[in-house]
Amino acid sequence: MQYVATGALACQRSQASCTLFAVNAKAKRIAVIPGDGIGREVLVEAVKVLEASGAPVEMQHFDWSADCYLKDGTTVPADGFTMLDRDFDAILVGAFGDPRVPTNIHAKEILLGMRFQMDLYANVRPVKLLDDSLCPLKGVEPKDVDFTIIRENTEGLYVDVGGVFKQGTLEEIAVQEDVNTRKGVERIIRYAFEYARQHARPGRQPKLLMADKANVMTYAHGLWQRVFKEVAKEYADVKSEHMYVDALCMQMVRDPRQFDVIVTNNMFGDIITDLGAGLQGGLGMAASGNIHPGRTSMFEPVHGSAPPIAGKNIANPMGAILTASMMLAHLGLNQPAAKIDSAVLEAVRQKKTTQDISGTLGTREVGEWIAARVAA
Ligand code: NAD
Ligand code: IPM
Ligand code: MN
Repeated sequence: MQYVATGALACQRSQASCTLFAVNAKAKRIAVIPGDGIGREVLVEAVKVLEASGAPVEMQHFDWSADCYLKDGTTVPADGFTMLDRDFDAILVGAFGDPRVPTNIHAKEILLGMRFQMDLYANVRPVKLLDDSLCPLKGVEPKDVDFTIIRENTEGLYVDVGGVFKQGTLEEIAVQEDVNTRKGVERIIRYAFEYARQHARPGRQPKLLMADKANVMTYAHGLWQRVFKEVAKEYADVKSEHMYVDALCMQMVRDPRQFDVIVTNNMFGDIITDLGAGLQGGLGMAASGNIHPGRTSMFEPVHGSAPPIAGKNIANPMGAILTASMMLAHLGLNQPAAKIDSAVLEAVRQKKTTQDISGTLGTREVGEWIAARVAA
């Protein structure tokens, strides 16, 4: 795969900072948005590995970030989401968040903007242990931690509906609404049933567990309960189960073997996927996809911009690299995706890792080791 760099390197009103055109006419077009902090470091490695994999992709970089926001006030350029949807097959993102932007406005507008405005309603977050040594639980092997969390990604407590009244007084009232629509709940539950059916492990009945807090949030999660039971009737081959989210957290730690696919709302999904990351070796190991079937979807590691470790070449790039492989598989490029997965597995086994998972290498060195292995 041959690339020709053509773009300007400077940040120009948040537009592309570096454009790379592949020669292959059938290449999938990928928008690469590294963002802030360690997002910038780990995406360099993910791109290196993608290039080494020989996957037919052409990548165009966009510097939508805290830096650009601080420079000229732009978060997303006009028609940015329309352009991503129209001109790209997928989007690869690093992370957003910068202490110089305490309102987090750029992260909201860029990251939540993509999820909401591009209607990427299924946030698919695999929890997959690669090696016993990575799991904080005793006596657990990779086959014991291998499930997927499907998080609703466009509604719930994330819709930014609410307000404050009598701000700054002792009578202050703060309201944040949890918005759950019939359409939104039904489509994520259907997506999860389909996913469970398609990803059943050999010899095992497909299984889907819904987690909510319907015992307290009787209106919002009552809707989830009714829809889940209704849709389950259409998937008689899939075993459907339920847990309250608090009990689920305990079970994820006590016995993760019991889970195959879990579906839940936006906020609970955010929380339990960090817990899931913990089971895999930490946030540096967790990948995710923000998906709307049939449309341009976005892929990002689960972790954030980790400001305290940014710029030190110590961030673990594996979550971002596994995210790149997830993106390739989503695009039907299964062969290079499998090559990347097995190179990451080999890096873990040979301890070619960063310090968060007890290695001694830097971000770049891990990325280069995996890229070399993928290219071999
Ligand atoms: P974080 O994920 O950035 O960091 C949490 C902890 O995990 C820290 O100890 C960090 O050092 C560690 N960590 C995270 N990724 C790592 C990696 N790849 N390698 C090694 N260690 C890693 O979460 P936070 O500290 O709560 O948030 C920091 C900023 O990131 C905030 O601005 C937050 O809003 C933002 N954030 C963004 C995203 C995203 O863009 N998808 C996700 C989560 C948090
Ligand atoms: C995640 C992050 C985001 C979320 C933040 C940065 C808005 O924590 O992707 O898990 O809460 O969804
Ligand atoms: Mn999160």
